[in-house]
Amino acid sequence: MPAPGAEMSVHPRQPAAATPGAGKLPLPELLGMKARGDKISVITAYDAQAARLADEAGVELILVGDTAAMVVLGHESTIPVTLDEMIFLTRAVTRAARRPLVIGDMPFGTYEVSDEQAVANAIRLVKEGGADVVKLEGAGRMLSRVRAIADSNIGVMGHIGLTPQSATKLGGFRAQGRTAEAALELYDDALALQAAGCFALVLEAVPAAVAARISETLTIPTIGIGAGAACDGQVLVWHDLLGLYPGRTPRFVKRYAELADEIAAALGHYVADVRSGAFPDEQHTYSIPDEELTRFRESLGTR
Ligand code: KIV
Repeated sequence: MPAPGAEMSVHPRQPAAATPGAGKLPLPELLGMKARGDKISVITAYDAQAARLADEAGVELILVGDTAAMVVLGHESTIPVTLDEMIFLTRAVTRAARRPLVIGDMPFGTYEVSDEQAVANAIRLVKEGGADVVKLEGAGRMLSRVRAIADSNIGVMGHIGLTPQSATKLGGFRAQGRTAEAALELYDDALALQAAGCFALVLEAVPAAVAARISETLTIPTIGIGAGAACDGQVLVWHDLLGLYPGRTPRFVKRYAELADEIAAALGHYVADVRSGAFPDEQHTYSIPDEELTRFRESLGTR
């Protein structure tokens, strides 16, 4: 029996303060946002500090994207990243993300073979990585994977248009759906993914007018990257948005900072300070009381 006046908890063995996911955005709220016309902000993140900053900025969803292969691990494409690597990064993000739902991205080769493979690996991202939901690319044969994962009570985000895991087949990193036939195929795929159980859909590098029509038709939110302003939300890659590398970015990226330049300048100053002896100075060092220093020196004298 609870103490008089104490409220009966739904989970009596769980102290309220330690309830997992307390403060998490409820997944169905994304449908509410779409219905109200409230735009959904999504960003990728690959470590705990980034997740904390994204959470504080108010994003609804954090995607631990397989773009990690390129922007974190230095590969030329997203293909080589492994599930173990994705779980390691996802774990770091989920330790720090309080309110945003964390999407664990299923890397290439972890869901193509069978529904069983897809479910087993989605479970690993959730159980070991702490992901709230998962994402996979494609439609067609992947509809069955989406159904199987959703039937296992794991939320699935779809991803169509430019799907980087099949960039070779698509002829490179290029916009999709630019003929009537291709646009119609995207439209049908979007509807099929919704019917298969996706809770949201990424549209990447799709003409704005096509994405607008898809967004209008679907009841689940569309999250655009290079798909125009009519999508229900937008996603950008952390390193793109913050300008964390020099040189060109894709057409659809808006750089909100040029941190690579700032970091380069800061590192240059650091190296110069170390070489000149300007760092460390008094405020960066620890002291020892005079009498202790005297005793220390006296002790050394007897050696
Ligand atoms: O892996 C990723 O970061 C993505 C985004 C580009 C949507 O899939």
